[in-house]
Amino acid sequence: MKKLLFVLLILSNQILGQVSIIPQPKSIEISQGSFFLDKSMGLSINNPKPETTEKLKIFLAKHDLSFNQNVNSGNTLVISEVKDKLDKEAYTLEISPNIIKLSFSDQGGLHNGLQSLTQLIRNQKMVKGQVLLPTLNISDSPRFGWRGLMLDVSRNFFTVEEVKAYIDLMSEYKLNILHWHLTDDEGWRIEIKSLPKLTEVGAWRVPRNGRFGEGRAFPTAGEKATVGGFYTQDQIKDVVTYALARNINIVPEIDIPGHSMAALAAYPELSTKKDPKFVNPGSKFSEWYGNGTFKMLIENTLNPADEAVYGFVDKVMTEVAALFPYDYIHMGGDECYHGYWEKDKKVQAFMKANGLKDSHALQSYFVSRVNKIVNNKGKKMIGWDEILEGGLTEGAAVMSWRGVKGGIEAAKKGHQVVMSPTTHAYLDYTQGDKSVENPIYNDLSLSKTYSFEPVPDGVEAKYILGTQGNLWTEVIPTLPFAFYMTYPRAFAISENAWSPASIKDYSKFMNRVEDHVKVFENRNISIAKNMYEPAVKVYKEAGKTMIAIEKDMVKGDVYYSTDNTYPVNFSQKYIGPFEKPSGDFKLRTQLFLETKALGRELIISNTDLDKRIK
Ligand code: ACM
Repeated sequence: MKKLLFVLLILSNQILGQVSIIPQPKSIEISQGSFFLDKSMGLSINNPKPETTEKLKIFLAKHDLSFNQNVNSGNTLVISEVKDKLDKEAYTLEISPNIIKLSFSDQGGLHNGLQSLTQLIRNQKMVKGQVLLPTLNISDSPRFGWRGLMLDVSRNFFTVEEVKAYIDLMSEYKLNILHWHLTDDEGWRIEIKSLPKLTEVGAWRVPRNGRFGEGRAFPTAGEKATVGGFYTQDQIKDVVTYALARNINIVPEIDIPGHSMAALAAYPELSTKKDPKFVNPGSKFSEWYGNGTFKMLIENTLNPADEAVYGFVDKVMTEVAALFPYDYIHMGGDECYHGYWEKDKKVQAFMKANGLKDSHALQSYFVSRVNKIVNNKGKKMIGWDEILEGGLTEGAAVMSWRGVKGGIEAAKKGHQVVMSPTTHAYLDYTQGDKSVENPIYNDLSLSKTYSFEPVPDGVEAKYILGTQGNLWTEVIPTLPFAFYMTYPRAFAISENAWSPASIKDYSKFMNRVEDHVKVFENRNISIAKNMYEPAVKVYKEAGKTMIAIEKDMVKGDVYYSTDNTYPVNFSQKYIGPFEKPSGDFKLRTQLFLETKALGRELIISNTDLDKRIK
């Protein structure tokens, strides 16, 4: 008893931190008071169902707690499935001095309520199984039903345990769709029993180091393909069950007719040239000319004029549909090079016979055949926005990635849309300055991600299913680095998808992000901290070369020097863009809060600044 009182005293002396829930709940009222949570607490579940118990088990395991079930005296957590229908995935969480009451009307609501409680416990820092929580009232439900992350497991393979870890973390932020990019040129990752070569051959590539798409050589004759992996159907079922227990539905993506080199390595007869192919080890096999135009140096497309291809797609979709219970299957459709179709006589004859006026019409024909196959398996089809080209097939949903233009066009035609534009939702883009990060095609700051509004002006909200962030893994070889690239921007994705636009507030969001960064540190999970660093942009204006230094933090000041000295705080403060000096200097810049340096210093040579001119 004495010990308990001592702990209580310490806990109540520690000032309750701010209530930091991400995504921000719809309504939250905080009152003066606290609730003491420890292992002697009671747990009362009205109408316990197996799924309810399963979710509670996950919650208790996360906090190393085991409450006394059916004890209704003293401090109690009451889990209450209510008869009145709440909105989908909605919950209420009332914390008063002796009772925490979590009410919900569906399993998604229970999951989401438990995540808010989890975050409160983590924010207040549990010590030896004891924590003081602020008394409050939350009433919460999501803005969108599709709150997703896409994980590419083709460019780099992630094991079942790693995929589960990715799912577990995203589920804590109330994200509810994992779009699983299972096939691409660099590896086919899902076992298809009727087409065994897809994984016997298509899941493996030769080992290569060096930057993806640049210095990696093609396979040599007879070289062994030893790098890769795939998921057996039993493993897929296991992951689906794991995800469902965490309120996550999985949307599998089979990326066709382009991005199919791994499939063609297994079954080259499905291409126009039918020549032997290999699983791409990340070698450069395309040329890009700007504005999204490109040429594939090796054929990586299925042949849409060959009936055998539809037999292949049917077999794949039959097995995929049986493995994934969610409504949607993603058929890719992006970045499909038409050059090999245009050069092939049989394809041209097929187009003529079917009244297809150009290669876009041919792609549209392919997409509509795939749509029929997917629908025949009892599923709806979604594809990247290229499926609009040549005419969008009836009933298909569109994932808008090349900006929001495709999404707007599809919504105006009455199709369902998921918004995931490169401009705001590409999690493979560097979060900070490329002088300190692993550069990729572009960059995307946390603030820019947070600024995204998924329903564009002039579009009816009912057509927007939601929004998602996409983690392509060309240069992301490990799970810790996948987490680093995903967070904290996935916080912004989650809030964009969950919270009403009217309550979003960047400055308050950033305060909460800082709390969650600390939680990640306590949990030994890597998280990017570029928000504590400046980012340097160089551009031409009125004939002058200008430097702009941006920052994501609301607080703090940027200091810089162009005389090779360390940018001491209280010296040259950045107040706006300035003309780039000439000569052999380095721009050095860092973010400070009063006397404290917040993040890393950036050091960029004049030559590198010149390379950035936009
Ligand atoms: C994509 O980024 N190719 C959809």
